Formats: sequence, C-alpha cells, structure tokens
Amino acid sequence: MVELSPSVLSCNFANPIADIKKIKTDKLKMLHLDVMDGMFVPNISFGFKFIKDLRKNCDYFFDTHLMIEEPIRYIEEFQKSGSDLITIHYEACKDVESTIKKIKSFGIKAGISLKPNTKVEEITKYLDMVDLVLVMSVEPGFGGQKFIENSHQKIRELREYIDNNNLDVKIEVDGGIKTTNVEKVISDGADIIVSGSDIFAKEDINGQVLKYYELFNN
Ligand code: DX5
Ligand code: ZN
Repeated sequence: MVELSPSVLSCNFANPIADIKKIKTDKLKMLHLDVMDGMFVPNISFGFKFIKDLRKNCDYFFDTHLMIEEPIRYIEEFQKSGSDLITIHYEACKDVESTIKKIKSFGIKAGISLKPNTKVEEITKYLDMVDLVLVMSVEPGFGGQKFIENSHQKIRELREYIDNNNLDVKIEVDGGIKTTNVEKVISDGADIIVSGSDIFAKEDINGQVLKYYELFNN
C-alpha cells in the first residue's frame, strides 16, 4: 500500500484549510507539514501554533517534517500540537539517538531524514529505532524544485537494507515528485510519497490526489 502525503507548504497560507478541504476523497489519510527555521534551511515556514490550529480543523494523520537545528528542543511542542509522526534530520542533531528516543517517549512515530548529499550508510544504524526514513530528493527548504535523479539509487539502497534486515520501516520520498515521475519512485521501493506543488498549486486539487492514487495502483 503506497500512501500520499500532500505538503501543506504549497497551500495558500492565508487560508490553508480551504485548500485542504478541497480534498474530498477518503483515500487520503495523511498530510505532510514542513517546519523550517531559517537556520537548518534557508527558509522559514510555520511552527506549532499553525499545526495546532490545523489539528482543530481536520483529522488527517499529521506527518511533521522538522527542518530545524537541534529539534530535540521542540519535540514536546510539536507532539502537543497534534503531530502523529515527527521526522528529524540526521544532519541537524548533535545526538540523533536521544532525539529519536524523545519522540518515541510521547508514544508517537519517529522518522529520520537525510539530505541529498548524505549517504545511506551514515543513517542505517538508526533504522531499527525509527518507523520511517525520509529521503530528500531536493535540497530541503523550498517547494517546487526539480527531483534529484541520484535519489533513485538511495531509495533502492534503503529498500534493500530494510528488506534484508527485516525492519519495519517505511520509506518516504520528498521533493520534486509529480504524477509524471512518481511511478519510478514507487518501483524503487517508496511507501509514502510527498507532493506539494503538484497538488496544491493545481486547479483541481481533489482530482490530482485521485490521479496519484490511480498511479499507486494499491
Ligand atoms: C522541501 C519540503 C517539501 C516540499 C515539497 O524542503 O520538505 O516537503 O514541500 O514540495 P514539492 O513537492 O513542490 O517539491
Ligand atoms: Zn518535507
């Protein structure tokens, strides 16, 4: 079962819930929430108040992607705001293991993410502690960028490692995914597809979500 996680970063921030409510299909279960601090990445997006307010207005599984330095400082706030899964960046943590443990201590799911230039072997030792690994297929910071082709290889390497070691870890892929390239990403072994601009910047948002699910062929 492949799942879609549309990125709210591409919504109209003056009224994000209006864009989200355009999705009528019950196939969609989750939303991707990109938190940026202007330090780990050269952009600032939103924080826990924004997520908390969304939480009051929809029931989707909240897939929170923290692109912030030393995320351990804010795990509790993001959990309280309604995140069901918190993904931190390997490159942003002094102590990756403690950060993952802190997320798990709140009884929610934990993910680890790697930037395009980080090698798979740097993060494999953490895979038995997490529920998800997030492969960044663009440099984190902005929506609407072009998919970096060597991500295919990384997804394949992770798929092989996870299967060979019988790990219960989902592979999520984020950045530059469109209906035109998603099938290859799935054949590489992705379980969760993040897509921002190819969903919320479209005229027919619900139709676009349905198009993805048709391609997933679940
Ligand atoms: C980028 C974010 C992505 C972004 C994806 O740093 O992590 O989730 O919203 O946007 P698209 O799908 O437009 O590349
Ligand atoms: Zn993201």
